[in-house]
Amino acid sequence: MIKVLVNGANGRMGKEAVNAINNDAALNLVGEIDYKDDLAATITSLKPDVVVDFTAASSGFENTKIILNAGARPVIGTSGFVEAQVDELKALSKETSLGGLIAPNFSVGAVLMMKFAAEAAKYLPDVEVIEAHSPQKEESPSGTGLRTAEMIAAARTSSPQITSDKELVEGARGADLHNVKLNSIRLPGVVAQQTVFFGGLSETLKIEHNSQHRESFMPGVVLACKKVVERDELVYGLEHLMD
Ligand SMILES: NC(=O)c1ccc[n+]([C@@H]2O[C@H](COP(=O)([O-])OP(=O)(O)OC[C@H]3O[C@@H](n4cnc5c(N)ncnc54)[C@H](O)[C@@H]3O)[C@@H](O)[C@H]2O)c1
Repeated sequence: MIKVLVNGANGRMGKEAVNAINNDAALNLVGEIDYKDDLAATITSLKPDVVVDFTAASSGFENTKIILNAGARPVIGTSGFVEAQVDELKALSKETSLGGLIAPNFSVGAVLMMKFAAEAAKYLPDVEVIEAHSPQKEESPSGTGLRTAEMIAAARTSSPQITSDKELVEGARGADLHNVKLNSIRLPGVVAQQTVFFGGLSETLKIEHNSQHRESFMPGVVLACKKVVERDELVYGLEHLMD
């Protein structure tokens, strides 16, 4: 059995993760910790194979370092990582020969949405991303939005049209990453939604994903716990563990 510790276990995602791990025969939940607990000391005493982290954007990077340095494999759902941090953590995982995952989105449908968007961007370079989350989400844009823009930029074979971005109200045209506009909506009642909106010659294409409940992320979390123990390097994006 794979021994799993959940960090952020009192939170909305942490509670779902605890349930999902308890319901999987191959996983053994050895501990549930949260804000006031000492992550490094808990790993030393409970010796989990994997630590699942759903905490806060301000702590995800440090927590991942602590997990790797303490000899466990991180499965990180916490958002807010920038590219330089991911690179540093990949290097640390190589040094420690520990597998791990940072997943901007654990839902299988959202991973497929990003893959399909990258495929479409080869033929339709003009695209905008509209993502919606609950008002409790700390940062904007979402990690999924950022990752989608990165994947689109890497897949494009031609440049998008140059648009006029004259804004009568500041922010009206959204943010820009690699020539992909990112628009963030924060509303009660929303869990996580994203539309990738392409435009071509007299045609449009929308690829849309909707997480209606936080349990939609759990098959991805369970899969990741099982896969990272077979790996010796940290990867960014669930798609690297799905195939
Ligand atoms: N990757 C995904 O698929 C996915 C999906 C949904 C949410 N998220 C992300 O997961 C994170 C948690 O989301 P949530 O909705 O559960 O938030 P939440 O606020 O409901 O829960 C966070 C929990 O983490 C605890 N916490 C905060 N800082 C901590 C620290 N340094 N150490 C230990 N515990 C700490 C809090 O006390 C709380 O119990 C956010 O970053 C969110 O954006 C990721």
